[in-house]
Amino acid sequence: MFSRKINGDTLRMCLAIPQYGDELYRLIDRNRDHLGQWLPWLDETQSPADTKTFISAELMKFARGEALYTLLLVHERIGGTLAFKSIDSQTGTAVIGYWLAEEFTGLGIMSKSVTEIIQLGKEYYDLKTCRISCAVENIKSRAIPERLGFHEKETLANAECVNGRWLDHIVYELNL
Ligand SMILES: CC(C)(COP(=O)(O)OP(=O)(O)OC[C@H]1O[C@@H](n2cnc3c(N)ncnc32)[C@H](O)[C@@H]1OP(=O)(O)O)[C@@H](O)C(=O)NCCC(=O)NCCS
Repeated sequence: MFSRKINGDTLRMCLAIPQYGDELYRLIDRNRDHLGQWLPWLDETQSPADTKTFISAELMKFARGEALYTLLLVHERIGGTLAFKSIDSQTGTAVIGYWLAEEFTGLGIMSKSVTEIIQLGKEYYDLKTCRISCAVENIKSRAIPERLGFHEKETLANAECVNGRWLDHIVYELNL
């Protein structure tokens, strides 16, 4: 399976395929409280079949060159996901999205992984710009683009409704 080392033998990213759906769903289900504060799709994810359907749809986008949805494997266990949620080949712009299970936070895993997917974006998609959109109050998520040298591009009022709460977002941008 397509896979790329991020940190020695302990951390790698691999293309998500439906065969990972059971393990990925179990991880999401165990982390509902942690993820549900910031991610809008938890309520739509109620079974492994839902996760497999999502992965299949992402693979169709991958085939068209419009997205890349990967799993982060920590010691060969899924620890979270990292994606180019969209890729615009006309402008060379990709939007990055991510989450980690709570037990894998605080270790620098996502910052390293985002660095690696940006590198991959340069190598395979000829990207010129990467963006990350974070809720203003999501300090842990905002720390990632800030740590990696992104600049603030704009603030979007009421960008997303999560758990019945409308969240403003800051869009960060990195020119490659
Ligand atoms: C957003 C999220 C991925 C951030 O996770 P994270 O563990 O804070 O991010 P990283 O993996 O980059 O780790 C950074 C942390 O590891 C520490 N760290 C340890 N070694 C490190 C290293 N080599 N490099 C960078 N950070 C390191 C940092 O100090 C930081 O810890 P701190 O927050 O206590 O200061 C996680 O909180 C999450 O999944 N949240 C829920 C979903 C979500 O919000 N998704 C984003 C929507 S926009």
